[in-house]
Amino acid sequence: MTYEELKKVYDQVGQRSGWDFSKLKDEREPVPWNYLDVVKAYLQDTFSVLDVGTGGGEKFIKLSEFFTKGVGVDPDPDMIKTANVNKKKAQNSKVTFEQFGAENLEKLNQVFDLIINRHAPVVADQIVKVLRQGGYFITQQVTSKNMQNFRDIFNISQFVSKWHNNLDTMVPEFKKLKCRIVATGEYDVNYWVKDVKSLIFWLKAIDMPKGFNMENHWQQINEIVEKFTTPQGIVSNEHRQLLITQKL
Ligand SMILES: C[S@@+](CC[C@H](N)C(=O)[O-])C[C@H]1O[C@@H](n2cnc3c(N)ncnc32)[C@H](O)[C@@H]1O
Repeated sequence: MTYEELKKVYDQVGQRSGWDFSKLKDEREPVPWNYLDVVKAYLQDTFSVLDVGTGGGEKFIKLSEFFTKGVGVDPDPDMIKTANVNKKKAQNSKVTFEQFGAENLEKLNQVFDLIINRHAPVVADQIVKVLRQGGYFITQQVTSKNMQNFRDIFNISQFVSKWHNNLDTMVPEFKKLKCRIVATGEYDVNYWVKDVKSLIFWLKAIDMPKGFNMENHWQQINEIVEKFTTPQGIVSNEHRQLLITQKL
């Protein structure tokens, strides 16, 4: 495609709101767990729950029918604004949103029955400080092996993100803090975006590579489309890790 054609698509896809990816047309191979189902299995209707790095609270609001009271935190004021808009839309009175980073959880001055975190930073000692004894912490993380073929095209050899933690570091940290490792998991599956519009929406939404724009990256988009188009769509990989740990 020409630069002009790609730029037109880029301008059409708009900005993501919060962490809403519902515009994306995609497909993945079957995965061994579903994050929301895992969390639901640990929720009880009496629980107070903390969601660290809640984004626009999209997932947290969905989960709230299974608990009594929840706090979603995110250091980005725009995310908190979006989360409050989403809360209002959903007419939800169980969750509140506050501007806090994973590094400052103790300043919440509260203790939670369950703490969750999806694709956001984990600061183990802060989690343990605000988790009740016997309570569980569940996190799903995006790892350095995610979207490997695209990163090769963009020449991002090392996936460096302060947002993501991996099991190699988290497991020893939580063990040191006297937590029991209940389960760990990892998967690496094929993941397809169905068309060029979805591809551009996705890369723009996650800002990959950093500062993603058509002027600098249109040729690489063409290379991705050329190299990785399959009958199912434009293929990459989705690599995730899961940790469930309990404070003893
Ligand atoms: C990929 S989004 C995930 C949002 C949400 N958990 C979800 O799954 O849809 C990562 C979020 O982590 C937030 N974040 C970035 N730095 C953070 C920090 N130090 N502590 C907590 N959250 C952080 C970002 O603002 C962003 O909203």
